[in-house]
Amino acid sequence: MKNGHAKINFNEALSIHLNYITLILVTIRPGMKEDAEMIADISRYCFYHTYAPVNTKANLDKYMQEQFSHEMLMEEVVDDNNIFLLAYHLGNISGYAKLLNNSAHSKLGSKKQVEIVRFYVLPDFKGKGVGTQLMRACINYAKSKEADFLWLGVWEKNEPAIGFYSSLGFEKFSKHKFKLGDDEQTDCLMFKNLEED
Ligand SMILES: CC(C)(COP(=O)(O)OP(=O)(O)OC[C@H]1O[C@@H](n2cnc3c(N)ncnc32)[C@H](O)[C@@H]1OP(=O)(O)O)[C@@H](O)C(=O)NCCC(=O)NCCS
Repeated sequence: MKNGHAKINFNEALSIHLNYITLILVTIRPGMKEDAEMIADISRYCFYHTYAPVNTKANLDKYMQEQFSHEMLMEEVVDDNNIFLLAYHLGNISGYAKLLNNSAHSKLGSKKQVEIVRFYVLPDFKGKGVGTQLMRACINYAKSKEADFLWLGVWEKNEPAIGFYSSLGFEKFSKHKFKLGDDEQTDCLMFKNLEED
């Protein structure tokens, strides 16, 4: 420290600069009932894009027809229990999160919890900091509800997403089963202690 100024190296300065740019480029707003059509469209698009390369078409089609239809997704948006956050990159829709307040997992005890039910960045916007800003908004939402933990489930084979969540301070705490069509899969459950954020 010289003249009261802390010294930072080039990489730290670059990282601060890039974070600042991302803050300007990415905006987040709550999803409204009027967004139902668009949220249903991007939900199906992101889901298909993420899982089609690593699942059979039959299993994916079955799941999307029976449990992830356009109508079902639109109904979720108009249900007041669900919270949607929409991310925009330079004004273009670039990702969304679906949250559930007071969704407590027994393995996390009796502390107040918010669940991230879905978290997706559109393919063209991956790696631009959208996910980080969207997660920041999820954390802020959970804190505004005085939650102690945020938690989520992620397919054990989705290594990029597990890496992303880990880099943001999430830790694995359990597993659960998820059926995609006829294929029984295992999700890792991960949580973030908001007191440490
Ligand atoms: C996983 C996902 C949400 C990340 O969002 P993103 O906008 O691409 O991520 P960001 O650009 O904000 O990345 C921020 C940081 O996350 C970390 N990160 C991202 N991918 C990572 C990976 N594969 N391994 C480790 N860290 C990773 C890095 O630290 C990265 O910082 P960097 O810029 O210094 O590399 C996004 O890629 C996505 O939507 N994937 C497909 C859908 C999906 O799998 N959703 C989760 C379902 S549970």
